Amino acid sequence: MKRPVLAANWKMNNGPTAASSFMDVFIPAYHPRTDRTIIIFPPAVSLPVVAAATVGRSDVLPGIQNIHWAEKGAFTGEISASMARDAGAQVALVGHSERRHIFGDTDINCAKRCHAAAKAHIAFMLCVGETIEQREAGETESLVTKQLREGLSQTPNLISTEFLLAYEPVWAIGTGLTASPADASAIQSLLRSQLRQMIGTRADEIPILYGGSVNSGNAASLLATDDIDGLLVGGASVEASSWLAIAQT
Ligand code: 13P
Repeated sequence: MKRPVLAANWKMNNGPTAASSFMDVFIPAYHPRTDRTIIIFPPAVSLPVVAAATVGRSDVLPGIQNIHWAEKGAFTGEISASMARDAGAQVALVGHSERRHIFGDTDINCAKRCHAAAKAHIAFMLCVGETIEQREAGETESLVTKQLREGLSQTPNLISTEFLLAYEPVWAIGTGLTASPADASAIQSLLRSQLRQMIGTRADEIPILYGGSVNSGNAASLLATDDIDGLLVGGASVEASSWLAIAQT
């Protein structure tokens, strides 16, 4: 994937009708670029709309916000990686903080989701990040290291697997607070060095994104920060005009 990677996580916004209106504005206005990759993570019901609108646009990838690790079966309400791929997803978000903190996702479940994505030949984006209490207790480094190592622990052949990481401090999500470039850079560089221990120089090819209250006003300075290879954007990605400004940063 071309870096920077600019990813829109719509969360539970933009159902099929709104997604269609969004893509009607965004796709014609966002001219194809070879110097970056755009990913859009719509709610699963809007994935076919996003996938249809991005046909022929290898620079704009549809994604899915969560996947189950099983291939199929009696898992009411869940979606497997191969089903997501069938519906057009090329990337699966794994371990977003809202999945961890609201829905109880664990590192071991994240590991299973990463493995499932790799097995279904879609990329995954593993999210890590600390709460304010963990930060104040000085646990940030150990926590994100654990989330990273456990999250990747069940994916064999990591070296040849397509994946991305996102560092999203929980206290910066939807709060208007962003990590300072220095703080974000320190964690991004820790993640990179951990990855190097795991997969050697291939670590340098893995995009590591920052997320948490990114908007069109702060996107450029965050992207200019060492070790930040892209942005994962929530609230400011829901409206096409706001997202367009960030995508063109
Ligand atoms: P906000 O950009 O709304 O803070 O959300 C960040 C996020 O959680 C993206 O995944």
